[in-house]
Amino acid sequence: MTDTILSLSDARLSLDGNAGRVEILRGIDLDVARGETVALVGPSGSGKSSLLMLMGGLERATGGSVMALGRDLTALGEDELARFRRNHMGIVFQSFHLIPTMTALENVATPLELAGKPDAFERAEEELRLMGLADRAAHYPAQLSGGEQQRVALARAAAPRPDILLADEPTGNLDETTGETIMDLLFGLHERGATLVLVTHARELAERCGRVVRMRDGRVEPELARAAE
Ligand SMILES: Nc1ncnc2c1ncn2[C@@H]1O[C@H](COP(=O)(O)OP(=O)(O)OP(=O)(O)O)[C@@H](O)[C@H]1O
Ligand SMILES: [Mg+2]
Repeated sequence: MTDTILSLSDARLSLDGNAGRVEILRGIDLDVARGETVALVGPSGSGKSSLLMLMGGLERATGGSVMALGRDLTALGEDELARFRRNHMGIVFQSFHLIPTMTALENVATPLELAGKPDAFERAEEELRLMGLADRAAHYPAQLSGGEQQRVALARAAAPRPDILLADEPTGNLDETTGETIMDLLFGLHERGATLVLVTHARELAERCGRVVRMRDGRVEPELARAAE
């Protein structure tokens, strides 16, 4: 049995826009082993967020294959995909995607409730406390700063203890101290078994990851060890 948790093979993503067809991901080959920590880096527009969406089953590849925990995400129906995400994936978006009509506490508790956890609200409170947001639980997203919204999004993704945590710039809007706290929390999740794929421009965060994957123009650049061959 292989310990590959994510495996993309010639994965492609093209979207039809009003300016015609845009090739966003142009054939991605990437394997991530269970328990790895991967930093996804590269210039703006190189396809990092799009790749995360593909890995999380939020965008469907228009070519190639995307396997997660042995399941071919391109072959799952919408309902199966939603269930798969709920059971195995935590996703933190670049723009947070909090539900505006729910408080911070409700945002974090909802996925736990959907997963059938009877103590969803107690656990959600604890996650918010870990993020330093105990006193913001009753606030709506619009009443929170960008960095606070980001931490709520992270609490929501981490609460169900996902096998795979995908996070887009998890420390992007945070001051240094808060950023470090978040990094420690991310790597704490890793110690408890989660595989991490983090999009980041922060050198310190990338350096803490076991591997750095560099993207350019919708492709993964050859890794240094391989490039030197
Ligand atoms: N829905 C869409 N329709 C058309 N083009 C899109 C769409 N979403 C993204 N793109 C394009 O795909 C490319 C990759 O976008 P993506 O958001 O993945 O980049 P990124 O590496 O995450 O950039 P950043 O660091 O700025 O977040 C960009 O050129 C973007 O304009
Ligand atoms: Mg992005």
